[in-house]
Amino acid sequence: MPFPATRLRRLRATPALRDAVRETRVDAGDLLLPLFVHEEPGRAPIGAMPGVERLSVEEAVAEAQECARLGVAGVVLFGIPAKKDAEGSEAWAAGGIVQRAISSIKAHVPGLLVVADLCLCEYTDHGHCGVLCTTSAGLTTVDNDASLPLLARTAVAQATAGADIVAPSDMMDGRVGAIRAALDEAGFTDTPIMSYSSKFASAFYGPFREAADSTPQAGDRRGYQMDPANGDEAVRESLLDAAEGADILMVKPALPYLDVLWRVKEASRMPVCAYNVSGEYAMVKAAAAAGYIDERAVVLETLTAIRRAGADIVITYHAKDAALWLQ
Ligand code: PBG
Repeated sequence: MPFPATRLRRLRATPALRDAVRETRVDAGDLLLPLFVHEEPGRAPIGAMPGVERLSVEEAVAEAQECARLGVAGVVLFGIPAKKDAEGSEAWAAGGIVQRAISSIKAHVPGLLVVADLCLCEYTDHGHCGVLCTTSAGLTTVDNDASLPLLARTAVAQATAGADIVAPSDMMDGRVGAIRAALDEAGFTDTPIMSYSSKFASAFYGPFREAADSTPQAGDRRGYQMDPANGDEAVRESLLDAAEGADILMVKPALPYLDVLWRVKEASRMPVCAYNVSGEYAMVKAAAAAGYIDERAVVLETLTAIRRAGADIVITYHAKDAALWLQ
C-alpha cells in the first residue's frame, strides 16, 4: 500500500476543491459597522482609527446607504452628545443625537438593521457607564441599581426612535432583565436585546474612547467589566443574560477572546456576536500602513477565524472594506 493512505493535501489541491470543502464562510450579511454620530456638521477624523470618522446625522445616513449597497447587515450607533451631565440624560432624550440618527437612518434605509449601543458612558460628564455613588468606605463607584432605570429608559427611547435591536454594553448586573421589562411594558415586546454579555475590561478599547469621548475622568471600568483572565465567569454572565431575556449574546473584544467565544457558543447554542474592537482595528491599520502585513488578507482571515470560533455576527470597523472584498 502506498504510504500515506490519508493525504489531506488531496482536498487542498485546487481552488475549486478548497472551495467545496470550506467549513466557514464570511458574508457581508453577517457584519455590522459601528458609526459614531456627533452633533456637529460633516465628518471629523479619529486619530487612532484611520478610515473611521465621527459623522453628522446626515453623513451617518450616507454611510448607512453605502452599507446597504454593499450588503452589510447593519450599523451599530454610538452617540457623541454636545452636552453631558452626571446622569447621562442625553442618552434617553427624545431629541438626543442617537435617537435622531436612528429615525433618520430608518426613514432613508428601512431595510438596514439599526442596532443602538445602550450605555451611559458617552453621555455622562464623568465617563462611567452608570451613575456614581460613594460607598460607606468613601470610595466612588458606579451605583448598579440606580443605573438600571436609566438604562431601561434609554432602551425605550431607542426603540421608540425605531431601533431594530438594543445592545446594552454597560455591564451592570440585572440590566437585561430591567431593559426587557421596560421594553415590554412600553409595547416593544418584539424588540430584541443583543447583550454585551462577556465584555472584558480591555486595553483594546483605547481608540474607541478617543472616538466616543468616553474615557473615565477618574478610575477605570474594572469594577464592572470582566477580568480578562476569566473564562468560566464569561459563560456564567452569558447564561445569566440569556435567562434575563437576551436574544443575542456577545463576546468583546474578539481576537484575544476566541476561546471564550467558542465556550459561550457551546454553552448557550444562541446567536452570538463578536465585537472586533477599535484596538484590534487600529493594530491592523498601523501594520498595513507600515507595509508589514497585507491588510485585505489579514482582515478576511481575521473575520473567518472569528466566525469559525462561533460568531454568527461580527461587529467590525472593517465591514465596508470586507464587504467590497467579498463581492
Ligand atoms: C461603551 C462601549 C465601549 C465600546 C463599545 N461600547 C467602550 C468601553 O467600554 O470603554 C468599545 C468598542 C471598541 O473599542 O471598538 N461602554
